[in-house]
Amino acid sequence: MKVTVKANANIALTKYWGKKDDKLKTPWNSNTSITLDGLETITTVEFDQKYTCDIFILDDKEYLEGTDEFKEVKEQIDIIRNKSNKKEFAKVVSKNNFPTAAGFASSASGLAALTYAGCKAAELNLSTKELTILARMGSGSASRSLIDGFAIWHAGETSEESFASQIAPKEHWPEFRILGCVISKKQKKTKSRAGMAQSVKTSPIFKVWYETAESDANKMVELIKEKNFNEIGKLAQANCILMHACAMTTNPTIMYWQPGTLEVIHKVLELQDEGKEIYFTIDGGPQVKIICQEKDVVEFKEILNSLESVQEVIVCKPGTGPRVINEHLF
Ligand code: DP6
Repeated sequence: MKVTVKANANIALTKYWGKKDDKLKTPWNSNTSITLDGLETITTVEFDQKYTCDIFILDDKEYLEGTDEFKEVKEQIDIIRNKSNKKEFAKVVSKNNFPTAAGFASSASGLAALTYAGCKAAELNLSTKELTILARMGSGSASRSLIDGFAIWHAGETSEESFASQIAPKEHWPEFRILGCVISKKQKKTKSRAGMAQSVKTSPIFKVWYETAESDANKMVELIKEKNFNEIGKLAQANCILMHACAMTTNPTIMYWQPGTLEVIHKVLELQDEGKEIYFTIDGGPQVKIICQEKDVVEFKEILNSLESVQEVIVCKPGTGPRVINEHLF
């Protein structure tokens, strides 16, 4: 059976930066996010006897054994195969609809789409909670992309306790917006996975980071339920700065910020001083994601577009979790 799924990327409002258990892929702290409409990965999966090996094609390029991309997909397919007792090899074809290297969590939408389509193609009927646990094994942030609207990934102690669930659906807050500012399309030097593992080992502030982040995640859940926009923005921004402080104090240092990142940060701080409702957050790369509301999008977009280092501004609304579609990629 061939199954095709569309899944959206998400942006962390309070971050995940560090695994407590490398094998179980459980994080040190709970973390929260919003799934973003329109930044999607489409993936088709088919298990069939006609395949003599696993095949993975992303954005029209085939990735062969020995590449990181192939390994990531194969590991996830192996988990699904073991769980469903499937013996056949799989063909996986994937496409991202957002600009390549735009700095949005493509591993989140990618692994969410792969997990969802893979399970359906293997006729494995799992609950959303079980799917988030499986997606977590592929990429931590992917667990949150399985959820519609606002999500929390509970750190948990055991594998079963480390899952994502919904804080509120997208209908809770249709006016919430994320503006993705593209600063650089260059590949980042340190991937999140390797970077966070090094932070756990060497950052002198790692304990401060994860203890604060755990309490931030719990506060964020309440603020989202209350729709307290300005407190959400302040908390997301402070949490992002602490995560990057943790990355920067890693040995060797992980410096995701570029001069352009700082240009946007300073502009946002200036606008905050003027009383504007605008905040920033940044993941493992130079791009800045602006947290704002629909009423301010036109004004903020114009200001951001006028900055020298901003190449593009992508407007994102709250989005849905994965869904099956009929148009297959092969
Ligand atoms: C900075 O989920 O990509 O975006 O679990 O190793 O695949 P792995 O890492 P990944 O890390 C995301 C880190 C982050 C913060 C976040 O999304 O919470």
